[in-house]
Order: sequence, then C-alpha cells, then structure tokens
Amino acid sequence: MKSVTALPLLLAGAASAQTIQSKPFELVIQSANETLNGQQFTACHSGAAIESLCLNGNPGSHYYLNTTEGVKSPQSGVSAPGVIVWNLPIGNEAPEPEAMSFYTEPGTNVAMPMFYPSYGEVQVVFDSKDQMGIYSTLDDTVTPPSDNSKGKVLKNWYLCDTVFSGYQYRTLSWVNGNGSEKPQNPSCVHVEVERKFV
Ligand SMILES: *[C@@H]1O[C@H](CO)[C@@H](O)[C@H](O)[C@H]1NC(C)=O
Ligand SMILES: *[C@@H]1O[C@H](CO)[C@@H](O)[C@H](O)[C@H]1NC(C)=O
Ligand SMILES: *[C@@H]1O[C@H](CO)[C@@H](O)[C@H](O)[C@H]1NC(C)=O
Repeated sequence: MKSVTALPLLLAGAASAQTIQSKPFELVIQSANETLNGQQFTACHSGAAIESLCLNGNPGSHYYLNTTEGVKSPQSGVSAPGVIVWNLPIGNEAPEPEAMSFYTEPGTNVAMPMFYPSYGEVQVVFDSKDQMGIYSTLDDTVTPPSDNSKGKVLKNWYLCDTVFSGYQYRTLSWVNGNGSEKPQNPSCVHVEVERKFV
C-alpha cells in the first residue's frame, strides 16, 4: 500500500498542465479470429497500484484519453496524441488516475502496456477507424537515422501470454519496431485495438 499513498505526491506536478479528458471508452479487440473479436481489455492487478491490460473474460474497464490543450493532430484523420488513463479505485477515497506506459525488458522485444505509477507515459493516437496506434517520425533503419521522417501510425499491438512479477496473464502487448518486427514470444497474435465510447 506504500506506493498507493505516495501517488498523489508523484502526480501533483502533472495536475497543473492544461489537460482535456475524453469521455470514457472501452478498448475492444478487432480480429479476424471470431473468438477474440469484440473482447475487451480489463485492468488487472500486477503489483501494488500496477495493472496490465488483460483478456480475462471480465467486462472491460473504462479508460480515458488525456490530451494537452493546444496539441494538434499530427496527420489528417488521426486524433491528437494523448495518454490513456485508468482510474485506480482506492477504497472509499477518490480514485487515483494512472497513465499508461510501456514496461520494457531488455530480454524481449515485447513491451507491456501498463498502468504503473511513476513509470512515465506513452502517447497514443486514434486513427479514422478509432483504432489505437502510436505516431512515430523515427527512422533508424537508414543511415544517418532521422527523427523527422514522414510520420506513420504504428499499430504493433499483440495479445500475448506475459509474465510480470509472477503474474501470468494474456495481455495487450506491443512489439517494438517499425511494424515489420515479429514478436519473439510465440504466444503472441496480432490484434487491432478499437476505442468504443461508453
Ligand atoms: C482464435 O483465438 C483463440 C484464442 O486465442 C485461439 O484459441 C484459436 O486457436 C484462434 N483461432 C484461430 C482460427 O486462429
Ligand atoms: C487526466 O486528466 C484528468 C482531468 O484533467 C486529471 O484529473 C488526471 O489527473 C489526468 N491523469 C493523468 C494520469 O494525467
Ligand atoms: C522497417 O525496418 C526494416 C528493418 O528492420 C526495414 O527493412 C524496412 O524497410 C522498414 N520499413 C519501413 C516502412 O520503414
């Protein structure tokens, strides 16, 4: 419980930013696989105040997109970039908003999106089909590398059997790379993740 009580202090700095919060939405799988199609991601316990996004048959959690006032869409048909927020319930107190970040482990190219206090945050966008992606202008496959190349929306989302701190789940995952990378984890299947407002 220690990190729960420390959270308000950690997040106090962010509170002064001019943030616009979206209406709540669910994160829903789109897949050619009929078993997976339509299933939702639920925030699931992976440590003290730490959650990953699980496929566990439970109703999906509600998420929000926090954008910063004045930040523009990077490309036509794409939303302004923002952070996925999930509200951690804390007993009778007001819930604690947590931002989604990517937990990376040097031994794998499969990153785990997580709500993980003070682990930073990852900026996502939604495209014209309301599918979640990450806008990137980095191209390090050429020499010299460029961080100002023609931007693209990457959608390297997978559903994988993952383990984090002893917790094994089937979770939303991300494979680092420009979209041509293959996950080294053999359980991973590619999915699209759609935002459905509730
Ligand atoms: C669909 O997904 C389920 C759950 O991951 C899996 O068991 C099944 O083999 C998949 N079916 C096909 C046709 O890929
Ligand atoms: C998201 O925005 C809401 C409303 O402005 C704010 O209360 C919350 O702290 C923000 N969450 C994060 C993680 O930035
Ligand atoms: C992606 O990276 C691979 C090398 O890993 C490269 O061959 C390919 O051209 C890149 N594709 C794009 C669209 O940048």
